Amino acid sequence: MNILVTGGAGFIGSAFIRFIIQYTQHQVFNLDKLTYAGSLESLYLVEKDPRYHFSPIDITDYQAVKQIFFNFRPDAIINFAAETHVDKSITCASNFIQTNIIGTYQLLEISRLYWQNLPDNKQSQFRFHHISTDEVFGDLGYSDLFFTEKSTYAPSSPYSASKASADHLVRSWLRTYGLPTIITYCSNNYGPYQFPEKLIPLTILNALNERPIPVYGNGDQIRDWIYVEDHVRALYLVLTQGKIGESYNIGAHNEQRNIDIIHKICTIMEELVPCKLKSISQYKELITYVQDRPGHDVRYAIDANKIKNTLKWTAHESFESGLTKTVKWYIENTLWVQKIQAN
Ligand SMILES: NC(=O)c1ccc[n+]([C@@H]2O[C@H](COP(=O)([O-])OP(=O)(O)OC[C@H]3O[C@@H](n4cnc5c(N)ncnc54)[C@H](O)[C@@H]3O)[C@@H](O)[C@H]2O)c1
Repeated sequence: MNILVTGGAGFIGSAFIRFIIQYTQHQVFNLDKLTYAGSLESLYLVEKDPRYHFSPIDITDYQAVKQIFFNFRPDAIINFAAETHVDKSITCASNFIQTNIIGTYQLLEISRLYWQNLPDNKQSQFRFHHISTDEVFGDLGYSDLFFTEKSTYAPSSPYSASKASADHLVRSWLRTYGLPTIITYCSNNYGPYQFPEKLIPLTILNALNERPIPVYGNGDQIRDWIYVEDHVRALYLVLTQGKIGESYNIGAHNEQRNIDIIHKICTIMEELVPCKLKSISQYKELITYVQDRPGHDVRYAIDANKIKNTLKWTAHESFESGLTKTVKWYIENTLWVQKIQAN
């Protein structure tokens, strides 16, 4: 199978490509604009493999993307490309509207043109797999039931609103044109190669460098966490065995308060890096409460029973083992951090 991956130099897209090259025989074409969040350094393990191809392309560039489609002739496209940092969307939403909405629209249109010209046997096999997020459903109260695939869309931030808009386009291209689409909604991912603006890598690196560890508000916000390698295994199952027109939640049933995660990371750091350079005796002394994010969602929690029951997927990594692996990875890969921050 030829798989066209957009945003494959980012956190989850690069994990997906490493998985495909390591565990399957498929060809992969990575199409990524290489924004500040994307780095080819995340793909050094696979970059020399003859089944891996790359072009630095913006998904809003219609002609360039079309050319890749008609040259590479994908059997499936999986769309990870997005602007993803909520704080940045609050400061300036323009890139989020361009990439997340207009970019998805362009991919849908090119896919439709390409798919309509495929022979019948190829047409029925083609997939447009769109990566969404649980954030499109807004937030939950502390005692509310989990998000299901049928939860109502209620996005809170410019980021989640742009992702929700893209989802609506994807659904309408299925309904109106019959383009074979699938959407997956995932909860918060963590693991190696995540850009250090997000909670877990930021906390690890600030602890390592003995800088203040910021906590929004009182740190009571709850997120549902999944190890990135569990997520990409689920994506591969959906891409290859998921039903056209369906959507699937992907989550590991692992709710954690932000402040508890920060304390857990500090505890792991005490074990792995007990020697400190400055005048702190414990990493948790670095915890600094800062003004809360405007419109900050209280809680996300995802019901992943559909993918468990229909595709027999389960998460393998416990939060404790995954978090320890992640902390170790950042300690051992400071060069990757320096390179991605120098972008
Ligand atoms: N990280 C999470 O916890 C999480 C959870 C649920 C869903 N998601 C979704 O998963 C997808 C991937 O997230 P991530 O955390 O890997 O993001 P990321 O920010 O790490 O990577 C995004 C990638 O997209 C590329 N990109 C951005 N704009 C582009 C454009 N116009 N054209 C081509 N490439 C472009 C970037 O260069 C980067 O490589 C996103 O769609 C995101 O909304 C992420």
